[in-house]
Amino acid sequence: MKMGSIQPKLIIHGGAGSSLKGKAGAEAVRQSLYAVVTEVYGLLLTGADAKAAVVRGCQMLEDDPRFNAGTGSVLQSDGQIRMSAALMDGLSQRFSGVINAARVKNPIELAEFLQNSDDRVLSDIGALELMRELQLPYYDPLTKLRLQEWILEREGNFDKAMAGVVAERELVSEAGRGTIGVVALDAYGKLVAGTSTGGKGFERIGRVSDSAMPAGNYANAQAAISCTGIGEHIIEECLAARIVIRTTDGMPFSEAIARSFQEAQTRQRDFGAIGIDATGTIGWGKTSEVLLAAYHDGGKMADTLDMGSGLQTDWRSSTGDF
Ligand code: GLY
Repeated sequence: MKMGSIQPKLIIHGGAGSSLKGKAGAEAVRQSLYAVVTEVYGLLLTGADAKAAVVRGCQMLEDDPRFNAGTGSVLQSDGQIRMSAALMDGLSQRFSGVINAARVKNPIELAEFLQNSDDRVLSDIGALELMRELQLPYYDPLTKLRLQEWILEREGNFDKAMAGVVAERELVSEAGRGTIGVVALDAYGKLVAGTSTGGKGFERIGRVSDSAMPAGNYANAQAAISCTGIGEHIIEECLAARIVIRTTDGMPFSEAIARSFQEAQTRQRDFGAIGIDATGTIGWGKTSEVLLAAYHDGGKMADTLDMGSGLQTDWRSSTGDF
């Protein structure tokens, strides 16, 4: 296939977790996700590189206070916000990211800068130093809802395992998981994955998320995956790399996802993942109640919000014939 002749594909997520409360909740999330898919797929159609498209999608999701990344990130046990983000270019197979970065508006921009650095993963103070070097202004990603959530949890002595997946009390049931992610295949055939998170919420200082590890965000020339859910579970399954490597070794992408999620279910894992392979197949899976994902397959835009509860995997082929 000649360069630039491939039909671009895009899938994004805004977390996975407990069910959204009612139709109004699902509709609000759907609108947020569709706004991102519309803009980012438009970029891909005009020939944008997958990396630029993924960074733009992550920025938009980080800027939406509804999701647990950038503005709207959850607070850790000490009341501070520390965010993690990663970017992986499938063509160069290059991973970069930041772990527990504070006071930055868009952690994905630090990950983007580090793509061209010898030192590609920085943690807390290193990320702060990089911000200073890049002359990025300090930014407070705290929202009133996330602060209220932390104060309530503090009163309850942090007995909840994680903060809510979506920062709107009326839209979600209590427990939840959140993170954002974008996976794109551009018109030149390049796959890129990006993931950004505020973490689990209420966690110990220094706890490291899966999102800035190959377990949570991984890509090569054959496939790209972004994960969301309980980071410890994602790390223990090495989920993103597991699906990508299975695909690389010849397993059909849809089967690589299905098998990895079936295995995860036997170990009571709680997470979701989205991805695309080199043939243009878009896939996703979850063991949690809901996966907040939306995609564009070249033919139309759709989402995963109405999938049944519990273990589910699905895919759309490159021809869009579903
Ligand atoms: N998956 C996000 C986290 O556990 O930090």
